[in-house]
Amino acid sequence: MTKLAFIDDVQTRINDYLTKKLDSLVINDEKLLDAMRYGLLIGGKRMRPYLAYITGATLDAEQSDIDGVAAAIECIHAYSLLHDDLPAMDDDDLRRGQLTCHKAFDEATAILAGDSLQTLAFDIIANHDFSAAVDNKRINLLRYLVSASGYQGMCGGQALDLSGTDKAISLAELEHLHSLKTGALLEAAVKMAAECSNNATAYDKEQLALYAKLVGLAYQVRDDIIDITSTEEELGKPAGSDLAANKSTYPALLGLTGAQEKAENLYQQALQALDTLPYNTQSLSDFATFIVSRKN
Ligand code: IPE
Ligand code: IPE
Ligand code: MG
Ligand code: MG
Ligand code: MG
Repeated sequence: MTKLAFIDDVQTRINDYLTKKLDSLVINDEKLLDAMRYGLLIGGKRMRPYLAYITGATLDAEQSDIDGVAAAIECIHAYSLLHDDLPAMDDDDLRRGQLTCHKAFDEATAILAGDSLQTLAFDIIANHDFSAAVDNKRINLLRYLVSASGYQGMCGGQALDLSGTDKAISLAELEHLHSLKTGALLEAAVKMAAECSNNATAYDKEQLALYAKLVGLAYQVRDDIIDITSTEEELGKPAGSDLAANKSTYPALLGLTGAQEKAENLYQQALQALDTLPYNTQSLSDFATFIVSRKN
């Protein structure tokens, strides 16, 4: 598989939503808004929105409800990348084939653009025009988003990533940090989309959450692999960045073949989790296939 089904439609849909959202903001500081646009709208595969839309479609959720979920998650993701690239963190100069935000603007602006994109995510969950059935689930959606983004999720994982740099950590610790820094947000995409469905049973949600946990972890394992095996041109971000920074990654701990086996193993387990569901889960299994074979 070289391309995900309907990916162009999803990218157009989410980009239109996010563009409209940014256009609706009253301008206080044009430079800050430009940096937010830069971090949110230039490039990006939109994999988290895609996962939310296909989960929603699998469970018959309203697409217009998924718009709010997908947009909020992508705002958190974009903010995490602006901060991840800063000199205090990974100190990278290239992202999505362009200069990183702090290089194109300046550090203070990139920090504030990240902060503003983070709050924009919560603005979206609070104010999106959800259908009546989902309207009273906003608090559940918020709970998922908060736990995936903050101390118990992405931020906690980023802290473990930093403290695991320049030293050897165990495989269990590496799995934990990867699950938090990257897995949590992909998991939230599935859980929040499932929350928008009236059909999903508690069992369905559990199995989908398991699928998402496995795919979310596999996403970062693959990111670590392609840091080594893809070129800067393919990645749109520096190749070999983890090695240069002496990061704890799957290839660093297990070697490239061991990391590939880990990704394959997670992939097989993710497919097994889907097998137990009473839906057509083809798009979710195709997504898992794509994730562990992607080159960027
Ligand atoms: C990169 O995420 C950082 C990770 C969490 C692995 P993506 O590979 O989804 O980056 P974009 O959004 O497509 O640029
Ligand atoms: C990304 O991990 C994690 C988050 C941004 C939360 P990486 O540091 O490996 O991501 P890239 O490789 O810079 O995209
Ligand atoms: Mg990082
Ligand atoms: Mg990085
Ligand atoms: Mg990486």
